Amino acid sequence: MATLLLTNISQLNTVDAAHTVIADAAVLIEDGLISWVGAAADAPAADEIHDLGGRAVLPGWVDSHSHLIFAGDRAEEFAARMAGQSYAAGGIAVTTEATRSQTDTQLADLVSARRREALSMGTTWMETKTGYGLNLSEETRHAALAKPLVENLTFLGAHLVPAGQDADEYTALVAGPMMDAVAANVDFVDVFCERGAFNEELTRTVLTSAVAHGIATKVHGNQLGPGPGVKLAVEFGSASVDHVNYLDEDDVQALAGTWTGWDAATRTGSAGTVATCLPACDLSTRQPLAPGRELLDAGVQIALASNCNPGTSYTSNMNFCVATAVLQMHLSLDEAIEAATYGGALALGVADKVGSVEVGKRADLHVLDAPVAAHLAYRPGMNLTHSVYQGGALVS
Ligand code: NIG
Repeated sequence: MATLLLTNISQLNTVDAAHTVIADAAVLIEDGLISWVGAAADAPAADEIHDLGGRAVLPGWVDSHSHLIFAGDRAEEFAARMAGQSYAAGGIAVTTEATRSQTDTQLADLVSARRREALSMGTTWMETKTGYGLNLSEETRHAALAKPLVENLTFLGAHLVPAGQDADEYTALVAGPMMDAVAANVDFVDVFCERGAFNEELTRTVLTSAVAHGIATKVHGNQLGPGPGVKLAVEFGSASVDHVNYLDEDDVQALAGTWTGWDAATRTGSAGTVATCLPACDLSTRQPLAPGRELLDAGVQIALASNCNPGTSYTSNMNFCVATAVLQMHLSLDEAIEAATYGGALALGVADKVGSVEVGKRADLHVLDAPVAAHLAYRPGMNLTHSVYQGGALVS
């Protein structure tokens, strides 16, 4: 098998358990996987060599929360929000109408283009959700066409109760026929547990069905106000609870309690519920930023994700999310990079495959147009992605 050596790396953030950073580093790739990591001076011989020109390298971003299956945009709603209106989940219906009108090819093209756009900014693993179909045929169609286009797919039939429908009846449809129809295509089931969307009882119905179907769960929780989302996610052993803007001390302690079987120093033991912070969404909806600093200090594993969607966060730029987490959420650069790589991988149950630069992992690498990773926050808003390797192939 041919080997590829990436060398002349000024700074390699491995994001391993010890947070090893190597100056003047090199990475050997074999059959799409990382087979050696170390100082360039000690690098083994290889069939092919790429000189990275003294640039910094990180693991590719693992974006664990997005909604790419949509058509249209909501720029008018955004403008109204900037003029003082608050975000309400009702805008989801606008996108649902636009999305239903697309042919399979049109919709698949939109998803593919968005996936490529994220890849070009360093996102080498990406989750996306359904949730703009909101009936049996459309949710099933969206799940089937998106499945081959992203690395992980989540069923979010429980995104909004369509106008004019009874909440109990719609939830029974989501938890029954819809879940049966999408089960083979999805990795997770998610619920938007919020006032104006799904209350505690309805959320329980959907999560209980997911468990019965053997599908891992996620919860959109505590985004627009305090609520039961975090505690439900913990109770159901969800892989993550996302948004987490409005937390009380009990929520934080409940999340921290899920990590007591986890040894962060060796990254072994049983993983708990990841708290996924979505800073681009918080800015775009003018919500208070999720308390990432407090969560980390309490011993909670966090992830950073883009939440790319047309309503609350129309960006898939993880460089921007990391910069915001450092500048506004008071994470260190190291913490933010870990949350956007390894943290995302934990939230998706793929931390054995991606999320760090370690031997045996997929060779997903983000080359920055900068000598050190600190430039991500030091030069916010600049295009700092130089090139991207996915599975050992230069893809951008
Ligand atoms: O994660 N909160 C629910 N879902 C999306 C927003 C969807 C929309 O407004 O279109 C989110 O922010």
